[in-house]
Amino acid sequence: MIIAVDGPSGSGKSSTARGVATRLGLRYLDTGAMYRAVTWSALEHNLDLDDTEVVAERARAVELGISTDAQHAHFTADGIDVTEAIRDPRISASVSKIATNLDVRKELISRQRAIIDDAQPTGGIVVEGRDIATVVATDAELKVLLTADTDARLARRKAELAEGAVTAEQLRDQIVRRDADDATVSQFQVASDGAVTIDSTHLSLEEVIDVICRLAKE
Ligand code: CDP
Repeated sequence: MIIAVDGPSGSGKSSTARGVATRLGLRYLDTGAMYRAVTWSALEHNLDLDDTEVVAERARAVELGISTDAQHAHFTADGIDVTEAIRDPRISASVSKIATNLDVRKELISRQRAIIDDAQPTGGIVVEGRDIATVVATDAELKVLLTADTDARLARRKAELAEGAVTAEQLRDQIVRRDADDATVSQFQVASDGAVTIDSTHLSLEEVIDVICRLAKE
């Protein structure tokens, strides 16, 4: 069983995907964390993020430890715990640059498919990202595209960040810019064949989880 949950920043896909995995007893993969971990590693090595070849080389070399336990998110890069560091605004500001590098994508997509395959004997996995239904796991049994209007996404992002970490304007700029950057990889956020679009603007987290769990059991 593979459940793909795609959606933009602040659509609630992480909490939703984790909740669905926990409720159905499935593994959970946060593919965005992998792009963030490569970004962290590239910055740690002081790489020029515009040098696509050097960055792609780093993506191929970095050893990533990705936990697939929905209740204990834990990530390492070259043996260093980066679980918190990859959420830093510095990473959020640079991650789209890394994610639009096609050689980085090729490398991470292949690692994601291996993690998905490994999870199958345990019952399955909920995979969240931007291109899961369209590229990474086109054979997913259930494909969900989670959307929400910009104001709702902004409010959710703000609630997640420490008070005073960024101003409302900075956050809006970041979200709008990341949407634009992400949109340059054309397959993003296009409803794939058979995907169910859920607009979460007026739904609670529990309501979205309920809908997806019901669909998964059909
Ligand atoms: O939840 P949020 O949008 O803040 O970010 P995320 O899911 O942690 O993903 C961070 C970034 O990684 C996104 O803005 C995309 O640029 C990229 N990403 C991607 O390209 N493909 C994926 N499957 C997942 C994330």
